[in-house]
Amino acid sequence: MLSLLFVSCLEVLLAVAPVSRCCNRRRRHIISFLSKGIPMAKPALSQSQLLQFKIRLATPRLSRIGRAFWDLPNLSEIFPEYLYMLFSSMRATVPLMERARDRARELADSDPVAAELADYFAKHIGEEMHHDEWMLDDLEVLGFDRREILARLPPAEVAAMIGAQYYWIEHSHPISLLGCFAVLEGNPIATEELDRFLAHTTIPKEAVRTLYKHAEIDPHHRDDLNRLIDRLPLEPHHVELLGISALDVVHKLSIVIEAVVAKSQAQQVA
Ligand SMILES: [Fe+2]
Ligand SMILES: [Fe+2]
Repeated sequence: MLSLLFVSCLEVLLAVAPVSRCCNRRRRHIISFLSKGIPMAKPALSQSQLLQFKIRLATPRLSRIGRAFWDLPNLSEIFPEYLYMLFSSMRATVPLMERARDRARELADSDPVAAELADYFAKHIGEEMHHDEWMLDDLEVLGFDRREILARLPPAEVAAMIGAQYYWIEHSHPISLLGCFAVLEGNPIATEELDRFLAHTTIPKEAVRTLYKHAEIDPHHRDDLNRLIDRLPLEPHHVELLGISALDVVHKLSIVIEAVVAKSQAQQVA
C-alpha cells in the first residue's frame, strides 16, 4: 500500500469538470445514499466495482488538491514533505494490519467474513513489510537524517486518518481496512505518470524509488483486494462500513495533501 500516492492517479482517472453547488448537493446526496449500503440482491456491479464507484463520487476535492500539488512551482522543495507524509502513513500499514488480523481471528469462529480477512491480512502484511523503510531510504537520498525523521512529531492529519481505522477495527469490524485499501491501493499510479510529474523538477530518481516500486506492485495488490471483496459473503453492514471507511480516507487524504500544499505556499511567500 502506498498511502497518498494514488492522489495523482485519481486526478488522471477522475478528471472532473468544475461542478455547481447544485451538482455538489446532488453528489453529496448520492454519496450519503450509497454509504448506507446497497441491497444484496443481485447488484448490477460487483461489490468491488460498487466500492470504486462510491470512491469516484467522493473524489473531486481530492483530485483538485492532487492537481494543485503536482503543479506546484516549488514541487522539488516541498517534495520531501510529501514523502514524509507518505512515510507517516506507511509506517502504520503493517501495525494496522496486524491489529486487523488479530481482531479478525477473534471473530473468525462465528464470522466467515472475518475468517477470510484474517488470512488476507496475514498474507498482505508480508507484502507491505518494510515499505516505510524504503521511504526513509529515499528521504536520506534527499539529505534527511533517518533519526531526525523518526523523532519528528507525526502529523495530526495522518494520525486522524489512521486513527479512524483503528477505531473501526477495534469497535466495529476489520472489514473497514479494506475500504481504506480500496482507496490507497485501488488506483495505483503508472510509471509513465510519475515520469511526467517529475520531468520538470530537480528531484533525483533515486529519491522516488518507493513510488516507482509501488507503481509496479500496487496493481497486483489492487487486483487481489478486488477479488477478495468480490468473494466475501458480505452482509449490508459490511458494505456500509466499507463505504464509510473509504469515504473517510478520501476526505482525510484531501486534508493531508492540503496541508502539504499550504506549507508549500507559505514557503513561497517567506
Ligand atoms: Fe500495496
Ligand atoms: Fe506499500
